[in-house]
Amino acid sequence: MTDPIRQGGDSAVTIEAYGLTKSYGKPAVRVLDGIDLQVGRGTVFALLGPNGAGKTTTVRILATLTEADSGTARVAGYDVVADRSSVRRSISLTGQFAAVDETQTGEENLRMMARLTGQSRAAARHRAAELLERFDLTAAARRPVRTYSGGMRRRLDLAAGLVGSPEPGVFFLDEPTTGLDPRSRQELWEAVRELAARGATVLLTTQYLEEADRLAGRIALLNRGRIAAEGTAADLKSRVGGHRLDLVLTSQEAYLKLAGRAVHHSPETLTLGIPTDGSAAQVRALLDEIDPAGREIERFSLHSVTLDDVFLALTSNASTTDATTTPEASAHV
Ligand SMILES: Nc1ncnc2c1ncn2[C@@H]1O[C@H](COP(=O)(O)OP(=O)(O)OP(=O)(O)O)[C@@H](O)[C@H]1O
Ligand SMILES: [Mg+2]
Repeated sequence: MTDPIRQGGDSAVTIEAYGLTKSYGKPAVRVLDGIDLQVGRGTVFALLGPNGAGKTTTVRILATLTEADSGTARVAGYDVVADRSSVRRSISLTGQFAAVDETQTGEENLRMMARLTGQSRAAARHRAAELLERFDLTAAARRPVRTYSGGMRRRLDLAAGLVGSPEPGVFFLDEPTTGLDPRSRQELWEAVRELAARGATVLLTTQYLEEADRLAGRIALLNRGRIAAEGTAADLKSRVGGHRLDLVLTSQEAYLKLAGRAVHHSPETLTLGIPTDGSAAQVRALLDEIDPAGREIERFSLHSVTLDDVFLALTSNASTTDATTTPEASAHV
């Protein structure tokens, strides 16, 4: 990949966390169980995980909205507890800008926010126009925000996060594309890439494997409050062998016998996917090992692994019920 975002700007670490833990409730339930993170400047980093994995909790700690029970974190060089106000000046958090007034136009909203950061009337007008242009909202600038599509609304939120001057260098986007249609999602990805290309550091959370794969230079797979794996999409894919051998089995018994080794389960079609390096030698050895008598496998096919497979492989041992829930979990990607 020659995409500059994936390569990263320079190697300076902008977001770093060590051993973050957090528990909620009585009796205490541990929601984060020792999170370590390092995100380089000018890069996009994805925290990928299912519902309840701890993504929002991690973002809230880094954005100074919640304190960890233990561990430390620095954002833009500032400690999130000791230097909270410096951190807040350095970051933008989407979702925070419920301040957008739906009855006003995009332009009016941005101008007003720029005025609130102390800019003159002329400077505010200039800044608003610049941001509307940058986020492709110029044509809609004079329409009330309530008429905006979901994607336009999220782009306005991003613009709102940049209105101050100087611009924040760190963006936390908590599930920025959840609920967006494919086109709006693409547009938002473009906006995020643009931020990183200008040197901003972006930490986003997502439940969409494809989104992490397409957008983020590095991905941390969060599962039950722990980082199950971290690296580039390619690193993560290589952890499960690079390829997946899909076997269509001849019986329910054969299916159940093998299910524990599989990273892909499709009980309706009696199909299981087993990780492999894709070489003829390994595929042949696997087929011989699994089905020495040649009676249990009806057909097979070989695929390159997707992040879906990685995700399932690295999280499925966490629960015995996962084998039944994973086909749905992968269906919405
Ligand atoms: N303020 C709170 N009080 C009690 N429990 C909480 C609180 N905030 C989060 N939790 C619990 O912590 C766990 C992790 O929540 P978190 O919101 O961080 O997950 P998430 O990965 O963002 O999930 P989602 O994909 O649903 O947004 C969940 O079980 C949640 O119910
Ligand atoms: Mg969340």
